[in-house]
Amino acid sequence: MKRINVNGEWFDLLMSDEQIRERIVSLGREISKDYEGTTPIFMGVLNGAYIFMADLMREFDGECEMDFMKLSSYGDRKISSGNVNILKDFSAHLDGRDVIVVEDIIDSGLSMTFIRNLILSHNPKSLKIATFLYKKEVSNLDFPIDYVGFEIPKWFVIGYGLDYAQKARNLKDVYIISQNQNP
Ligand code: IMP
Ligand code: MG
Repeated sequence: MKRINVNGEWFDLLMSDEQIRERIVSLGREISKDYEGTTPIFMGVLNGAYIFMADLMREFDGECEMDFMKLSSYGDRKISSGNVNILKDFSAHLDGRDVIVVEDIIDSGLSMTFIRNLILSHNPKSLKIATFLYKKEVSNLDFPIDYVGFEIPKWFVIGYGLDYAQKARNLKDVYIISQNQNP
């Protein structure tokens, strides 16, 4: 079992870069088919989603645009503060456009609920959600998540864009907090 230490805590390998790549190729195919003949805007949520967004967009066959927005909620801890704030607003005009929100992970679903309401208030033609990871047993959503990379358990994960106090975003694989914190 591959283990790493980040900020003094142990994490175990959850999925390899190969598994991730395979899944994103197939998601890209699915999204390309669904958006054939349209020009969607991929709306990435910074910072976590930037790696997933870069890989997913390059698996999209048609014409597309991109934009980013940034929210804060977690601070440097492992549990959500429950407050969502806009740190960077998007700049694209979403009126009449097909928007695909791209997130790294949906945990409580608070951030996605906030983003969804915000984007819907700009009258897009359509809105779909793509998330790399989905903690389905934690989230309690009253709307569908259209594209899910992987459903995962409720434990804290890092890597492939996801951080622990800003560290570990650069890891190619995804790691999950270890149930055994002895070295
Ligand atoms: P939510 O609002 O609770 O769904 O949390 C959404 C945001 O919290 C995500 O976009 C991530 O930035 C962060 N987050 C949630 N769970 C994790 C995790 O397990 N590892 C790292 N970041 C996480
Ligand atoms: Mg995020």
